[in-house]
Amino acid sequence: MTNADDRELVIRDLRVAPAAKPDHEILQGINLTIRKGETHAIMGPNGSGKTTLSYVLMGHPAYIVKSGEVLWKGYNLLDLSADKRARLGLFLAFQYPTAIPGLSVASFVRSAVNAKLQGIDKNPAIDPTDVTRGGLSMLEFRRRMREKMAMLKMDDAFATRYVNDGFSGGEKKRLEMLQMAMLAPEFAILDETDSGLDIDALRIVAEGVNSMLNPDMGVLLITHYQRLLNYIKPDYVHVLAAGRIVTSGGKDLALRLEEEGYGPILRENGLDIGIPDEALAVPLEPEAAGAGR
Ligand SMILES: Nc1ncnc2c1ncn2[C@@H]1O[C@H](COP(=O)(O)OP(=O)(O)O)[C@@H](O)[C@H]1O
Ligand SMILES: [Mg+2]
Repeated sequence: MTNADDRELVIRDLRVAPAAKPDHEILQGINLTIRKGETHAIMGPNGSGKTTLSYVLMGHPAYIVKSGEVLWKGYNLLDLSADKRARLGLFLAFQYPTAIPGLSVASFVRSAVNAKLQGIDKNPAIDPTDVTRGGLSMLEFRRRMREKMAMLKMDDAFATRYVNDGFSGGEKKRLEMLQMAMLAPEFAILDETDSGLDIDALRIVAEGVNSMLNPDMGVLLITHYQRLLNYIKPDYVHVLAAGRIVTSGGKDLALRLEEEGYGPILRENGLDIGIPDEALAVPLEPEAAGAGR
């Protein structure tokens, strides 16, 4: 069934279990529509399924889709490989990026950019692994890399380092943002992009994201800390708990979560999941906690 228009990503009744435990549904019926030009934040207690949602949207093989569909550009994304989803303009910034020793940041990003330029039908004139066969010229690639790295205040030497190899938490998150800037996705999922960033790095990354926002990109911003939402303003905030979106609102909802933790909002929505309020608190930003606020 497809009737979503081409400016929105529609998630319908999405139910998901890990492949290792097929009877244990982590996501129990997610419904969400995100239009291009909109930024939606998803907040939720640890273990509520936020990363699972981002992985399933991108096509991670560790999960089984029990029901539902994800409509985008006339396709049900759930029928497509992760590779095809990326070619259709989806992008996921990982919560825990993987190191690839031996592969430089520049080669990695160039292959990804050129693979995307091939399009979903894999234009045979472009070979992403061969700089002499189509795609961006080296000159143009270098120009864009320099521009985006400057935007994210990254040192030039970054481009020659191995992907995430020995990177600090903040450097890993910046590399995710560099990939996003270079790939110019039409739908970006950012999973806890704020974690591991000190306040200066957070500001730089948030400014980077804000400068990438445009009317032709939808954003799903997964975050534990309300503080990120001081820098990147969401149009909508959703609370994910017990496998469902229990309530949605605007920016005020995030502020309320910061004040009260998740407990009251979950109970108000008829969800008493037997977790003590302490565990449902929205953690303070690390610096603030350290400063004894
Ligand atoms: N691949 C997996 N195999 C088994 N259990 C998983 C898998 N992925 C996630 N889970 C479980 O599903 C729940 C949700 O995890 P996750 O999506 O990482 O939550 P969040 O990102 O909100 O903290 C957790 O209880 C987690 O242990
Ligand atoms: Mg997570």
